[in-house]
Amino acid sequence: MSANYQSPRYAHIVGWGKYVPPNVLTNEELAKKVDTTDAWIRKNTGIVERRIATKETTAAMALYAAQDALEVADVNPNEIDLIIVATSTPEYIFPATASIVQDKLGAQNAGAFDLSAACSGFVYGLAVAAGMIRGGTYNTVLVIGAETFSRLLNWKDRATCILFGDGAGAVLLQGRDEPGGILSTILGSDGSGGELLEIPAGGSKNPTSLETVMANAHFVKMNGREVFRFATRIMVDATKQALQKANLTLDDMDLMIPHQANIRIIDHAIKTMGLPPEKVYMNLDRYGNTSAASIPLALVEAIEEKRVKPGDRLVFVGFGGGLTWGSCAVEWTEPVVKRAIPPAKAAQSKLRYQWANVKSLGHRVLRRVDDGVNRALDLIDKPENVNGNGNKK
Ligand code: UT7
Repeated sequence: MSANYQSPRYAHIVGWGKYVPPNVLTNEELAKKVDTTDAWIRKNTGIVERRIATKETTAAMALYAAQDALEVADVNPNEIDLIIVATSTPEYIFPATASIVQDKLGAQNAGAFDLSAACSGFVYGLAVAAGMIRGGTYNTVLVIGAETFSRLLNWKDRATCILFGDGAGAVLLQGRDEPGGILSTILGSDGSGGELLEIPAGGSKNPTSLETVMANAHFVKMNGREVFRFATRIMVDATKQALQKANLTLDDMDLMIPHQANIRIIDHAIKTMGLPPEKVYMNLDRYGNTSAASIPLALVEAIEEKRVKPGDRLVFVGFGGGLTWGSCAVEWTEPVVKRAIPPAKAAQSKLRYQWANVKSLGHRVLRRVDDGVNRALDLIDKPENVNGNGNKK
């Protein structure tokens, strides 16, 4: 729903949440399925284990992360103006995963869309949300990064299947008059490098066929070396650009939260920029590369580990398929101490989500009944205009 707020406003991160599947896949377990070793994976990527969705889907994980973010912010779903789900592993080509999340949250006043910018998607989402808030179009925007890459990996390709994991992270942004929040965003793309990281089939150019399935063309394909080269360069450039745009220097930055692709890429950036390692947050050892979910997942864990406090200047930097990149300087303004949620409030939230499910089911049933009644009325009215299936001729 469109509202018009007094502009300019500052877009603050007021809520955050995450979800990772409980199912852990260690390097040792992986080495039993594919020709690799724990030692190779640790040395070349920094990854020790990753989470793999079993029953969870992208929308389900996005929903759990979103519910957490709303709880932290103490905001009701019907206050949300817009939901953006950054994902390259949506539930369907359409409907958007964001619309599924909107329905399950009972966010009846929200618009919803998916954003496709691979591992940069979350930062792209923040840029869109902050622009909407600053411009006064919306006040409360939910940005989620959620991925189930495990279902689109070729588990026989050791160059890719060792890298990725599943999960979701979410932030809630709200407009405020007080300065702070999202200070600057940088977005970039170089489509000439699209084929370096892609899923070649399943879209409109190469629709699914027996040939595409036989050719394993529905799985992630990557030229790791080239993507690595791109990532090391862009991470440094994009970080500096976001700081510069916010009139900050590297010294002003308290914590960098990079896309968690490979420890060697992050170490290279640390070295090139001369950063003390404690200024850079990493959790890729536990989750691998969760694509669009990696930055929000890392942000939430940095908060949980008390690595973020009000007044801190953070930089998020993402890069990946497209090729795309994005960076964002943030002045953190929210207290990070977890509020105790009163049991009555928790019960109310649970009831709210259950009611959203009941309402959604009610809408589906009503739509069917409505359709059936209309067909019957058409038949009574003008039987010659209705075919055997009950549809109008
Ligand atoms: O989120 C999107 C962004 N994605 C990335 O940032 C990924 C960027 N790329 C990378 O992180 C690295 O390129 C990889 C970790 C994927 C690969 O590391 P690399 O040092 O670039 O390895 P490579 O592809 O150049 O391969 C070197 C060797 C090859 O063997 P030979 O030809 O030298 O005998 C590979 O076959 O390592 C071999 N290799 C493996 N060996 C054991 C590749 N993958 C594995 C493996 N286990 N899992």
